[in-house]
Amino acid sequence: MKPPRHIAIIMDGNGRWAKERGLPRIKGHEKGAESLRAVVEGCAEVGVEFLTVYAFSTENWSRPKAEVSALMKLLELFIERETPELIEKGIRLQAIGRLTDLPESCQRALHKAIEATSGGTRLTLVLALSYSGRTEITDAVKSIVRDVQAGRIDSAMIDPELISRHLYTRVYPDPDLLIRTSGEMRLSNFLLWQLSYTEIVVTQKLWPDFGKDELREAIAEFHGRDRRFGAV
Ligand code: FPP
Repeated sequence: MKPPRHIAIIMDGNGRWAKERGLPRIKGHEKGAESLRAVVEGCAEVGVEFLTVYAFSTENWSRPKAEVSALMKLLELFIERETPELIEKGIRLQAIGRLTDLPESCQRALHKAIEATSGGTRLTLVLALSYSGRTEITDAVKSIVRDVQAGRIDSAMIDPELISRHLYTRVYPDPDLLIRTSGEMRLSNFLLWQLSYTEIVVTQKLWPDFGKDELREAIAEFHGRDRRFGAV
């Protein structure tokens, strides 16, 4: 059976994983980074073409300063450490969100890795960073209004396809499968427009305990679904 073309993941539960072990929250994020590494590899192995992960939301900026800076450092390290392997495996790194909100060193590392991996054709890994679905839609509305005001398009041309082409995700297909770990039944402002017809799999596993086996289980559950896209 064909794998989902695009998988999106809300990687939740790092804090709980750490708390259960009496560890600081950042230890959960560090273990979460290892899960991400395994899941990226798993997606490439089964032939998924796009993987979008919610690595840092706009709302996450309101966490304690120490946690935010530790997460930013972890992100930078992850990007630098993983780049050689991403290149070797044919994985292209990309990012969506208000990237200019990130610390400069993080932005530099990110753009360097995006450039270095740009030749990858096997899998596209998209990191959602300082991302908010509502902000993305707001930015799209502003950009469409600018195009109308400048006479580049007529307002009669505004339809769902045109709106999709103004989102950060304009070059990716909509996700087929959304996985959320740690049992929460929420979208948390993630890909609000793009998830309209996406199958959702929520697992009780905390993100640091999620790996290739759990990925395969989620894909199997996806294959059991009857996708009708509103038709009968
Ligand atoms: C949610 O767990 C996770 C995050 C806010 C950040 C996601 C980050 C990672 C998986 C780290 C690795 C990623 C990269 C790109 C290096 P939580 O802290 O909200 O968990 P909780 O709900 O149990 O407190």
